[in-house]
Order: sequence, then C-alpha cells, then structure tokens
Amino acid sequence: MADPIFDRDALEKALQLAAAEAVRYLAEVDEALVRPPGPGAPAEGLAGALPDEGTGSLAALHELIAAAGEGATRSAGPRFFHFVMGGGTPASLAADWLTSALDQIAFNWVSSAFAMRLEQISLDWLKELFGLPAAWSGVLASGATTANFTGLAAARRWWGGEHGVDVEEAGLSGLPPVPVLTSGYVHASALKALAMLGIGRGQVQTFAADATGRLDEDALREALGNAGPAILLATAGEVNAGGFDPLAVMADLAEEHGAWLHVDAAFGLFAAASPRTRDLVRGIDRAHSVAVDGHKWLNVPYDCAAAFVRDPEVHHGAFATSAAYLGSQDSDRPTFSSLAPEMSRRARALPVWATLRAYGRDGYRAMVERHLDLAQRLAEQVDAEPDLERLADVPLNVVCFRYRPRGEADDRLDELNRRLGEAVLDDGRVYFGTTVYAGKVAFRPAIVNWRTGPTDVDLIVPTVLELGAGLQPPE
Ligand SMILES: Cc1ncc(COP(=O)(O)O)c(C=O)c1O
Repeated sequence: MADPIFDRDALEKALQLAAAEAVRYLAEVDEALVRPPGPGAPAEGLAGALPDEGTGSLAALHELIAAAGEGATRSAGPRFFHFVMGGGTPASLAADWLTSALDQIAFNWVSSAFAMRLEQISLDWLKELFGLPAAWSGVLASGATTANFTGLAAARRWWGGEHGVDVEEAGLSGLPPVPVLTSGYVHASALKALAMLGIGRGQVQTFAADATGRLDEDALREALGNAGPAILLATAGEVNAGGFDPLAVMADLAEEHGAWLHVDAAFGLFAAASPRTRDLVRGIDRAHSVAVDGHKWLNVPYDCAAAFVRDPEVHHGAFATSAAYLGSQDSDRPTFSSLAPEMSRRARALPVWATLRAYGRDGYRAMVERHLDLAQRLAEQVDAEPDLERLADVPLNVVCFRYRPRGEADDRLDELNRRLGEAVLDDGRVYFGTTVYAGKVAFRPAIVNWRTGPTDVDLIVPTVLELGAGLQPPE
C-alpha cells in the first residue's frame, strides 16, 4: 500500500528526480517553442477517477514529468513576451525549492522567527532598491492583485477614519460611496481589488485625456475639489505600452486635497532601478501605498509581490487579527499575517532575499537596462518595416505595434491583427497575444525575463511578418 509513511525512503530519490528533470527542462527552455506543439489538452492523460490504490511517489512523479514535458508552456523561457511575466533567476528558483522543503509558515515569530526576520530584511532591501522610505510598512503578497488589495484595504481604513468609522469593525454600511479617481491606465486587478473590498468597481471615476488612457489632470483636479476624502489610484507601468501616470502631480494633488494616493507599480517600479528611467516614478515616495510584483521584473518564481504602506498603523489596522492562542506582537517584530489578507502564508522572503543577495542593486540595474535596450532595439526594428506600425512611445519595456500591410484597408486591420495574434501563439517561436490600444488591436510584447537577449527579441519582427504574409485574406 502506498501510504506516505511507507514512501519515506523514496524522498531523496523523489527530490533528485525533480532536480534532474528541472535541470533538463530549463536547459532546453531557451530554444524551445513556447507553446509545445501537440493535441492541446496535455494534462488530459492525468485525469480519471481518484485511484483507490496509489502508485507511490516515483511513479506519480514520472507521470507528471512526462505530461509537463509535453504540455507545459515554456513561460520561464526568454521568448515568452505575453502578459508581463518574468522567469526565476537561478538563486530565486533554488531558494523557492528550499521554501517548500523548509515549509516555514510566515505567520508570526512563533511559527517561524526565521521567516519573519527574513521578510523584514527582504522588504527593507526592496525599499532600498526602489527608493521608498525605510519607515514604511510592508508585506509580501501573492501578486500585484493582492498587493493592490492590501494597499487599497489600508486606503479604505483611512477613508473610514476620515468619516469617524472603523470600517474593519463596523463595515461600510451607512457610509457614502468611496470616491476612487484614476486615469485610463488603471489595471483590471486594481478594479478587482476594489470589488473585493466592497468599494465597488462602479465607484471608479476615470479621467482620461485621450483614447490611450493618459490622465486628464485638469479634470482630475476639478473632481478632487468636490470629492471630499478620496482615493487616488495611479498606475506606474501600464500594460499596453508601459505608460506612467504623472506620480509627482498626483502626489501634489493628494497633498492639496487630503486624498490617499495608491500606486499600482506592478512592474513599473523597476524603473527606479536605473538612473535612465528613475524619473518615471518620481514622486512615488510621497504615495500612501504602493504595489509591486516579484514574479514580474524581480524574476522570482510565481507567486510573489509586495505591498508598501506609508502609515504602519493604518496598514496593521486593516488586517489585524487576534485570538487567544495566536499570541501578541510588538512593533519591532511585526506579525506579517496581521499585515496581509492571509493568515497561513508561504515564506516568500526566501527567493526574494536570495535573488537580491545574489545579484545586488547593480545586477538588477544591469538587467533592467538590458531590457530597456532590447525594447528600443525592437522599436527600431518595427519602425524599419513598412508593413508594421508602432502605436506608442517606448518609455520602458513594452513595445506596442500592429501589422499594417501596405494596401490593406484600415477597417480590416483589427480583424487581421487578431488572427495574426492567434497565429503567433499557435506558432510558438515567440509568444505574445493582442490587446486593444487606443481602439486598435495591437501586439504588446513585454520584455522582463532575465534570460531574454537580442537573439530572442530579433525573432519577433520576422515571425510577425512571415505569419502575417501567410494569412488568408479576410472573407
Ligand atoms: C499594472 C499591473 N497591475 C497589476 C497586475 C496584476 O498582477 P498579478 O497578476 O501579479 O496579480 C498586473 C499584471 O500584469 C499589472 O501589469
């Protein structure tokens, strides 16, 4: 019988098998097709009724490895330009494995003083990397969605306080709607966070100066004047073209009108790592809360992010939990589960610490600058092709363009690019889908993976042109 207790002897072999397979997989990931060719339902062979009799760990792992080899999207590789996804640096990947082996619960100092202290150190280092004030509170999160949730939960607590209400205690009922003001750059995850917080997506007022979503400063200023206590929601690094809201202007407005400024800087905060782009996030140190991802430009494995809150009391008040058996906390030794939505938490600090220790400030600056250069290189290649049209400036690492073959009618371009986007994903040599930018269907490859180099980026334009030329004309 394959009871885990009898499987104990297989532990070492199971870990060695996983390590050997991971090394083999990652050795091939640089050149592999991003979407492996095949039937398209690769995990189907793993389905079926729950077995009464288990196979034992090694047999189970062999099945899993075979299916993953056939079916896993090579998103850890350098040619995955879809969404905004990093890979795991060597240090962070190995530390992530250790996180599972050590299985620390990053709950409080009793469950793991090691995980707590390492989370403090990692957050301090991130603040240094990003130029955020050392006194701010912080917490690691599962992604920018939960980091946005965390910052906006603190904002909600502050807003309740402005109305004399402890919203964590009393709830929102009886209070007016929470005004949330933003630009057209706002990301779906921030809206989701507002929905989860009971503030409501529908309360968001968007002030866009044009179809790209750029902030209409005058309209925002005017609306703030009439809003009472409000949450200003800024985006640093917008997904379609890497645009930035004017953070310094928004920080001024927040100060002037007594508003809370939350910045979703999921990948854009890495602009702070290079003097070439630091200006894009000027003013972020005057925000009240900031969200940033770890699994994007920090290149630690999924999942990881961080939320920072200027006022530690407000942060703690939004998530504090107590029960007799859980013990108490003091400010030098924060209970991170009282700063986060979850109570039991993965010790995400291990990969964060390891990658920052391994590569340091200079290593991250070099990586960010390499990606900035690659984005400019791609922009130049797009500009040099008469059948391609770049749709936006490239302030950071996202290049927004579309296929526009000479002679093609304008009203057929959206459909053509949509089909071409599908073709690119099916082809798998490079990987990015489509978006809609300023009303136009467009591509938006984003460069964030530590492995990505010129040979990877140089595949984008020829692949698009080749697949575009092969498309049947629309009916
Ligand atoms: C600006 C921005 N905010 C938030 C998110 C959501 O991040 P996550 O998927 O890590 O929750 C993303 C993801 O692409 C993003 O680009």
